[in-house]
Amino acid sequence: MRITDNHGRLINYLRLAVTDRCNLRCFYCMPEEGIKYAPRKDLLSYEEMLRLIHLVAGMGIEKVRITGGEPFVRRDMMDFLRALSRVEGIRQVNITTNGTVTAPLIPELKQLGIKSVNLSLDTLDRQRFFEITRRDEFDNVMQTLDGLLAYGISTKINAVVMDGKNIDDIVPMVELAREKAVDVRFIEEMPFNGEGSHYARLNWDHRAILELIRRHFPTIEKIPDPPFSTSYNYQIPGFKGTVGIIAAYSRTFCGTCNRIRVTPQGMLKTCLYDDGIFNFRDLMRAGATDEQLQHALLQATHSRAKDGWEAERNRNFGLPVTESMSTIGG
Ligand code: GTP
Ligand code: 5AD
Ligand code: SF4
Repeated sequence: MRITDNHGRLINYLRLAVTDRCNLRCFYCMPEEGIKYAPRKDLLSYEEMLRLIHLVAGMGIEKVRITGGEPFVRRDMMDFLRALSRVEGIRQVNITTNGTVTAPLIPELKQLGIKSVNLSLDTLDRQRFFEITRRDEFDNVMQTLDGLLAYGISTKINAVVMDGKNIDDIVPMVELAREKAVDVRFIEEMPFNGEGSHYARLNWDHRAILELIRRHFPTIEKIPDPPFSTSYNYQIPGFKGTVGIIAAYSRTFCGTCNRIRVTPQGMLKTCLYDDGIFNFRDLMRAGATDEQLQHALLQATHSRAKDGWEAERNRNFGLPVTESMSTIGG
């Protein structure tokens, strides 16, 4: 049994967010006072997550990405990762993290066979880091970056490009790829900031970002994108790492979208921009069998939006995006 959607796309990638309790307060993700955390009992338990993963592994999901701000703020994450890395059929377990408490865990991650980590980092300037994240965690994140590279874990840096905030940081961040074997990826800012406000027009879209980078690095050249890539990828001759641009707001890569999401509270999203299709937690806690859960998932993917624009239009009452990315996991 494989998961396909009504647009002929195969789904083999699950993004599972394990916590909504992010320890940073990035302004593009949430208001300064933070957002209300879900009570712990409302989160999927590790047992429920493992049940879900076993179930989807039997349906062709091969890659699981653990997300959630800093996933390692959730207690006993390592035990969960250990169990997850043993699930038959799951070939890749990847992590997206803000890196604030990851550094000491890197040797163990390596041991577990984690091959790839994506690190959220929007600036290399300590003061600006504080202005963006409202927390003084820059050194810890840099330690995580160095640790990942030292242990040979393939590392991508995710930098959200924010008009008027970190445009000056783009060039120094590209420079990072000169000496370090990292993929530095710039992301269009999306409206998932917990407030619902967004730009009338996104000035810093993928084209503008590339133009700026090309002005400073005229020898930059396009390289082939891996299948299902969210980023357009580039190489600058002589650089050890690569540069990528993710058109997350322009949504140019929906045609090859192979992913579904499950939020910390168990909500299935078949598109980042939808407002949730059904809740796995509720079905499980109401006693659903594995077959019923699988059926519900297939039904959801068989009426999936064609792209992020359609998903956004289909949101309840046509209301705009207001969620914080911390409740989705990215
Ligand atoms: P790889 O598996 O390494 O290719 O990473 P990824 O890009 O799938 O995941 P990551 O968690 O690093 O996400 C990077 C950025 O891309 C984040 O801002 C995500 O919110 C955004 N992103 C990831 N998947 C999607 C998607 O399906 N749609 C949109 N619009 N944005 C996405
Ligand atoms: N726009 C774009 N990317 C965002 N992320 C969080 N909020 C936003 C937003 N409003 C990114 C994080 C992380 C990834 C999972 O999502 O920086 O790298
Ligand atoms: Fe997939 Fe939606 Fe993202 Fe497009 S916007 S790539 S359909 S999750």
